[in-house]
Amino acid sequence: MDIKKILSQMTLEEKAAMCQGADAWHTVAVPHLGVPAVMVSDGPHGLRKINENGNVVKAVCFPTAAGTACSFDEELLESLGDILGQSAQAENVGVILGPAANIKRSPLCGRNFEYFSEDPLLSGRMAGAYIRGVQHQGVGTSLKHYAANNQETRRQSISASISPRALREIYLASFEHAVKSGHPWTLMCSYNKINGTYASENEWLLTDVLRDDWGFDGAVMTDWGACSDHVAGVAAGLELEMPRACDEDDEVLADAVRTGRLPEQVLDRACERMLQLADRVSSGHREEEEFDKGLQHHQARKFARESMVLLKNDNNLLPIRGNKKIAFIGKFAESPRFQGGGSSHINTAETLSALEAVRSVSPVKYARGFETDRDEIIPELVDEAVAIAKDADLAVLFLGLPDLLESESYDRTHMSLPQCQVALLEEIAKVQQNIAVVLHNGAPIVMPWLDKAGAVLEAYLGGQAVGGAVVDVLFGAVSPCGKLAETFPLRMEDTPCHGFFPGDGDRVTYAEDIYVGYRWYDKRHMDVLFPFGHGLSYTTFEYSNLRLSADTYSGGEMTVQVDVTNTGKMYAKEIVQLYVRPETNGFSRPVRELRGFAKLALAPGETGTVTIALDERAFALWREDMDGWYIEPGRYVIEAAASSRDIRLTADITAQTKPVYLPVTMDSTMADAMAIPGADKVLADVCAALDICMGAGGDSLGDSTGEMAAAMFREMPLHAIASFAGGKVTRTQLKAVVDEINQLI
Ligand code: GLC
Repeated sequence: MDIKKILSQMTLEEKAAMCQGADAWHTVAVPHLGVPAVMVSDGPHGLRKINENGNVVKAVCFPTAAGTACSFDEELLESLGDILGQSAQAENVGVILGPAANIKRSPLCGRNFEYFSEDPLLSGRMAGAYIRGVQHQGVGTSLKHYAANNQETRRQSISASISPRALREIYLASFEHAVKSGHPWTLMCSYNKINGTYASENEWLLTDVLRDDWGFDGAVMTDWGACSDHVAGVAAGLELEMPRACDEDDEVLADAVRTGRLPEQVLDRACERMLQLADRVSSGHREEEEFDKGLQHHQARKFARESMVLLKNDNNLLPIRGNKKIAFIGKFAESPRFQGGGSSHINTAETLSALEAVRSVSPVKYARGFETDRDEIIPELVDEAVAIAKDADLAVLFLGLPDLLESESYDRTHMSLPQCQVALLEEIAKVQQNIAVVLHNGAPIVMPWLDKAGAVLEAYLGGQAVGGAVVDVLFGAVSPCGKLAETFPLRMEDTPCHGFFPGDGDRVTYAEDIYVGYRWYDKRHMDVLFPFGHGLSYTTFEYSNLRLSADTYSGGEMTVQVDVTNTGKMYAKEIVQLYVRPETNGFSRPVRELRGFAKLALAPGETGTVTIALDERAFALWREDMDGWYIEPGRYVIEAAASSRDIRLTADITAQTKPVYLPVTMDSTMADAMAIPGADKVLADVCAALDICMGAGGDSLGDSTGEMAAAMFREMPLHAIASFAGGKVTRTQLKAVVDEINQLI
């Protein structure tokens, strides 16, 4: 496609029309110039194509991101993307509206099942892998919802007040990692405002950061109905308003050019990006056979197995061995909750429940115990469940959150399971000591009943084959290997944003700043129910021989290696996490941050080595006074860990980077000025004058002690010094001192 030539042949009206969808699911074609329409469809964990009759076509539903993130497996996400790309080709879909990479600020967010993590590195790496997989199939993606769409409450009007540092280190970083590692063909901007400006017309977000800082070269579309001022949007770096709103919007854009409000070259820029998208999609399109839903169902089962997290397993209650009498209890055993509500909802071709899957493995008795369409204790259902539990060797309870408690469009107001489920568990615990709980939930729950369960397997919303995957893990066909991509707190009130979520009216303040998820709980030394990165196995692993490619760091890439040995009796996979713990003191920093991870499969007795690369960002923080990344010189500890609270080995490294000194002004404090090498000599006369003033009894500070006065002067801006030097130091002298100090930088 000769984009420049086509653009030169387009009328103003055609160019304006290109910046708005043709309908809810297509971009505008320009047939006489050979520009095809592009069909877009949801994602993210299955193809949700709406056909011409308005029906959702049948497709395979895979585990949602909350689960797949627990695999810590970029290859898995890439495979998932590859499969979805094939499906999209078969359905003539050009862009899949996913992945969703918003950070999990609060476990209460109704869409957290669609998001990967509370940690931006894990989230961004998972999203990047998904993008590579889909686009490897010649189909585009739409990384969403850029940015700070961390709640459903008032999502289309709320303004998120977030510090520049929290944006860069947390809420944007997830997208940054995905853009740089995945190169998505499109991004979808979020509904909300960020610091008062809608994402859809936020030039800092869509151009300065996304394009100028990160090198994004694709097109930005709005979330559905997220366009407020189309002209301002196109000027800010938005290409496509979705869905089509009205012909008037085309007119408004064309008129803006005619009246000079919008320079035509800016409209041309947007059209070029849309033509590039059409070219990428048409170049990548191939006539793909009907995709194999049966094969994909098995792949969904495999992905679900890899995504499950064994949270608790006292006395190796699991896996189930021998010919035990087993009771399966809970409606989710028969009708698993395997996906969330809203735009990601898939019209599945088939579903495999645990009850169906277990038939080929072991005879079980079943009782549903509760209904999922209401939270009501139904005595006859409880009695029936208690009866089969009493007579069993092991009761497996399938519990979780029903659709009505978590979905797109609304947030949770608590973190509890439905009372009917908790009551059932408590009744069963009166007659059965061996209880394993399987959970189907899209986000963390509190577990006041945990002491009554010997084992807890977190299956999340594991896709249409989740029942089979659960049985595979319960009966030991495979060992669980997933590790939590988010913290499970003890209480909702412990969460970082409690009290600031979901905000008041149309403002939500991210008061916890960078301390999201484990960063918060670690900084405050708080206990948690299950920490970020936690996950048990049916075997055990030993870490040894942590080694760094260097013990000093001054930039570029370095590598970390650690050996892992399977010291148990079962083949299994281990996810090694690498954290960096800064021992510097110039800035408030998290105790530790995930800076790398690797997964390896080991047979009993086998030892493997993982190699993890670290770059500048592993040590960096965002300095608002510099508007850039900065590595504090000093000591850092590299931690090889099985979870954020299970640090196995550590090694020190010293960052030999240069401290950065910013030019001082009359508003800089004495301490900031004195920190600059050589400044003490320049300030000698000023200090002497202050000493004299202090020492001669002419103490203008009253009866303060020397230390207190010294402390006060350290924090005092230079412009105030003149007021305390007894006339011995003038502002003119201070301005000259400032100029002289700045010569030293
Ligand atoms: C929804 C969602 C977005 C989805 C889009 C199209 O409002 O926020 O994730 O892709 O509309 O369905």
